[in-house]
Amino acid sequence: MQDFVRPLLAGNWKMNGNVGFWRQLTRDIAETTLDFDTLDMMVAPPFVGLGTVSDEISMNMGTSLALGVQNIHAEKEGAYTGETSLTMLRDFKVSYAIVGHSERREMFGESSIDVATKARASLMAGVKPVVCIGEPLSIKEGGQTEDYILHELAESLRGVFIRSADDLVVAYEPVWAIGSGQAATPHDIAPVMLSIRNYLISKYGEMGSGVRILYGGSVKPENTEELMAVPNLNGFLVGGAALKSESFLGIAEKMR
Ligand code: PGA
Repeated sequence: MQDFVRPLLAGNWKMNGNVGFWRQLTRDIAETTLDFDTLDMMVAPPFVGLGTVSDEISMNMGTSLALGVQNIHAEKEGAYTGETSLTMLRDFKVSYAIVGHSERREMFGESSIDVATKARASLMAGVKPVVCIGEPLSIKEGGQTEDYILHELAESLRGVFIRSADDLVVAYEPVWAIGSGQAATPHDIAPVMLSIRNYLISKYGEMGSGVRILYGGSVKPENTEELMAVPNLNGFLVGGAALKSESFLGIAEKMR
């Protein structure tokens, strides 16, 4: 029996917006988080927006909105042109780091070994990694989703150890559902969520039952309720619908 796991709604803003946009969107979300005291919320702006979003969160006294990043470099500092370290994020009060998003795996050649390295570095820095996994369409069509996912998960969590269930978040995002407008169905998702849960319990013992597993891929207010009913699902990683406060908060509303 799974105890209550506090759900997480995470917004991945990807490479969108500008200073004015980030400020307004943060303000609109931060002002209303108090209405949603049964779930956690996080937004991950582009790196150059961290200052703006962090300041805006600090100005909304009492908001529970947390800050995340979309990627990190595992090293603390050095000759890594164009990269950002976890050490640099300290001043911005970053709580979560998305690692291994399929766009990073596909477009920037990140392997599961890289993802595990980043997840370990993130935990060492006191930042909760949101480890993303997901199968491409060819794997789904070949009926190999669960094998693929479990392999990717095991590799991405290699050497990743936690002290409490809250330290780690796993996001299952089928690649074919991301940005397509076509979310996976509860029927598609349920067996994958169960396999992920069983894996987490086998790796982390009792703590594994409390690690949050998110679903991501074309989540919107209209499909939130049916997705939320899937066993072992503890929230969402949202892209497109996170770029408007109405749809992001609309999802939060349906998660209550
Ligand atoms: P989407 O993106 O909600 O736009 O499908 C999800 C994600 O990439 O995290």
